[in-house]
Amino acid sequence: PLDINIELIPDEHSAQKLKIGLYFATWWALNVVFNIYNKKVLNAFPYPWLTSTLSLACGSLMMLVSWATRIAEAPKTDLDFWKTLFPVAVAHTIGHVAATVSMSKVAVSFTHIIKSGEPAFSVMVSRFFLGETFPLPVYLSLLPIIGGCALAAVTELNFNTIGFMGAMISNLAFVFRNIFSKKGMKGKSVSGMNYYACLSMMSLLILTPFAIAVEGPKMWAAGWETAVSQIGPHFVWWVVAQSVFYHLYNQVSYMSLDQISPLTFSIGNTMKRISVIVASIIIFHTPIQPVNALGAAIAILGTFIYSQAKQ
Ligand code: 3PG
Repeated sequence: PLDINIELIPDEHSAQKLKIGLYFATWWALNVVFNIYNKKVLNAFPYPWLTSTLSLACGSLMMLVSWATRIAEAPKTDLDFWKTLFPVAVAHTIGHVAATVSMSKVAVSFTHIIKSGEPAFSVMVSRFFLGETFPLPVYLSLLPIIGGCALAAVTELNFNTIGFMGAMISNLAFVFRNIFSKKGMKGKSVSGMNYYACLSMMSLLILTPFAIAVEGPKMWAAGWETAVSQIGPHFVWWVVAQSVFYHLYNQVSYMSLDQISPLTFSIGNTMKRISVIVASIIIFHTPIQPVNALGAAIAILGTFIYSQAKQ
């Protein structure tokens, strides 16, 4: 039996690694498609509160249909589950709408460069809100992350304060979301996929009244008409694509979060941004200066140093 165990463990380990690798690759690919359609939609229809709401509505609908048709098994939840989910949903809603508002104001690449600073927020939240301390190298690794983001921000050709602040708020909100989610998922029978489905539904309920208050049907109707007259009737498919891909990439990311630590998740998320930054610069012909790109590269390198220091 001992020999069997010795042979099985490396196999199981590599199967698990392969599974997580596949989740990561799918997550990144879906995210690139989402970011492209999301920005195409926002360029023609600058109503980020509505597009954020539609993404959540689409995901909620997809999951309700999957449960009703038994493509996916509906989770068994109790009041306690929904109560614990509430702070996660608040953080998810804020992080989502803030990132979308940011992308409606600045280049997708800029939002994601600022969002690559998420590990720095993670350390600060853990330090100041959870009282966790880290070894000195972890704190030092934040210098290139913060410095790189700052360099990229000050040299950004199309800098916009709302765009910058939106990405910063999103960073802070998502750090809380990831910490609370991991805690909420621990020891619960709800899978990563269903956990994200419930999260979408609760966030949708939270976001809808705010979206109506901030933008509202009058603005949406006028904006929609303009967008359709400029782009054509297929504009609706761009909106569908951004909404469907938003749900899919998040669902896959939650399926990974189910298997990994919030730290590994943060690192995977930062690496995801490299593909988004490169793809969006190519597709949208975003003008960048060498020093701007250098700032982004330093920030991303900082994340790798951080992951090493944290280990
Ligand atoms: C959103 O709309 O929620 C953001 O685009 C997502 O940001 P993320 O890349 O951190 O998931």
